[in-house]
Amino acid sequence: MTTTPDTRPENRVLIFDTTLRDGEQSPGATMTHAEKLEIAELLDEMGVDIIEAGFPIASEGDFKAVSEIARQSKNATICGLARANYKDIDRCWEAVKHARSPRIHTFIGTSPLHRAIPNLTQDEMAQRIHDTVTHARNLCDNVQWSPMDATRTEWDYLARVVEIAIKAGATTINIPDTVGYTAPMESADLIRRLIAEVPGADEIIFATHCHNDLGMATANALAAVEGGARQIECTINGLGERAGNTALEEVVMALKVRHDILPWDTGIDTRKIMNISRRVATVSGFPVQFNKAIVGKNAFAHESGIHQDGMLKNAETFEIMRPEDVGLNATNIVLGKHSGRAALRSKLKELGFELADNQLNDVFVRFKELADRKKEVYDDDLIALVRQNEAVSDRLRLKSLKVVCGTEGPQHAEMTLTIDDAEKSVDATGDGPVDATFNAIKALFPHEARLQLYQVAAVTEGTDAQATVSVRLEEDGRIATGQSADTDTVVASAKAYINAVNRLLVRREKTAPNADVKGVGYLDAGE
Ligand code: KIV
Ligand code: ZN
Repeated sequence: MTTTPDTRPENRVLIFDTTLRDGEQSPGATMTHAEKLEIAELLDEMGVDIIEAGFPIASEGDFKAVSEIARQSKNATICGLARANYKDIDRCWEAVKHARSPRIHTFIGTSPLHRAIPNLTQDEMAQRIHDTVTHARNLCDNVQWSPMDATRTEWDYLARVVEIAIKAGATTINIPDTVGYTAPMESADLIRRLIAEVPGADEIIFATHCHNDLGMATANALAAVEGGARQIECTINGLGERAGNTALEEVVMALKVRHDILPWDTGIDTRKIMNISRRVATVSGFPVQFNKAIVGKNAFAHESGIHQDGMLKNAETFEIMRPEDVGLNATNIVLGKHSGRAALRSKLKELGFELADNQLNDVFVRFKELADRKKEVYDDDLIALVRQNEAVSDRLRLKSLKVVCGTEGPQHAEMTLTIDDAEKSVDATGDGPVDATFNAIKALFPHEARLQLYQVAAVTEGTDAQATVSVRLEEDGRIATGQSADTDTVVASAKAYINAVNRLLVRREKTAPNADVKGVGYLDAGE
């Protein structure tokens, strides 16, 4: 099998997005099948070079998602993850082979700690790397190999196995900082040394894959590029296990804004960043922190008098990039109850939401309801409205809720839910209105899930502001986060809880025997 010669310019850095694999793997970040397909389409449209669409052996759901993403991909290479065994690799190939440009990504933990788990000697592991990469390369001419926990692997062993993987046919070698342990200088040096000392290293592409445990994921990825890496692995909003992965928007904007000292290009249309960031926040149930670089609500907000004054005179006094460059509209035009459907459509388009007519009608009805309750409807209110419209599989829906509060407890919640198309009602009590509401849901749809987090935030200012509520539930180690917004905090709480239950039900479906592939071993698939 031959590989097409790489004709990309020297200064081009490939963007490999793993939101749908490393991001979705993060506890609680469940996405439905339709949501995964939608995110993949947005990634493809924004110019991501490689989309890691999932871990095909993990479950039927992952396999189906990777296969369909492969079929629908227009430009991006579609990659699937596989452990170092033939069964994983075959399953991965079955899923990605439909893509215009498929890639198999296979990995094994090479550090002393990771070698100890499958109890392989250095030689046994080296043989396994040779065999599995060869097997993958016999199926696909685009193979990525990763020595997991590379940054804590002994140099001699790392260099040895990288050479073996290259000789076996790997076309990309990814160097993961799996536990977010490395620092920028070290990150650059490691790649530089691998390229200089490993035979065959100049024939392939080195990738960097960083986790953010010490807050250095973006710096480490950029340093690795300085050292010679030409592929950055990242996720939207930095989604990912523990403290997350390198954030796509951060590395891409750093390369754009500081091109003077970081002279590398990506193929990303940065104006699409805000839209995909919002979508990922919604579908993953992981809100973006207010002060998050590039995509946080406050990233372009100038509160203080001195800043505002400077900004009005010359935006460059306090702004190193323009909001439009990341797809944020410069103005925050307020809509009110007299605004029509056309104004709403155009505002939503500006915010990155292109809705079908029936969806727009639905949002319009709720926009009017909101505008009746609230004098001014801001961008953030609209975003919250649209997100609310996009519930997951929706086995449970809130039909009605009436809560009776008073100084004398207990509080009562009269609730009707539609569950699998049948209506059920209950009158439940609780210690406060939210407790009564959650008890009503539990009475109507009994479940064992434990409430791990209940969080309320105001979308905008004022007592008529909408409240965004996040609810995280845990059941047998599965975690799901639901969100909703409403001017009534209790209604938002009920909807967020219901949203979390719906997502948990999706998680329950991921019950293939190998569903928990992230755990111990990372190696065997019952061989
Ligand atoms: O962090 C990591 O090591 C990974 C590998 C599977 C590449 O995500
Ligand atoms: Zn990772």
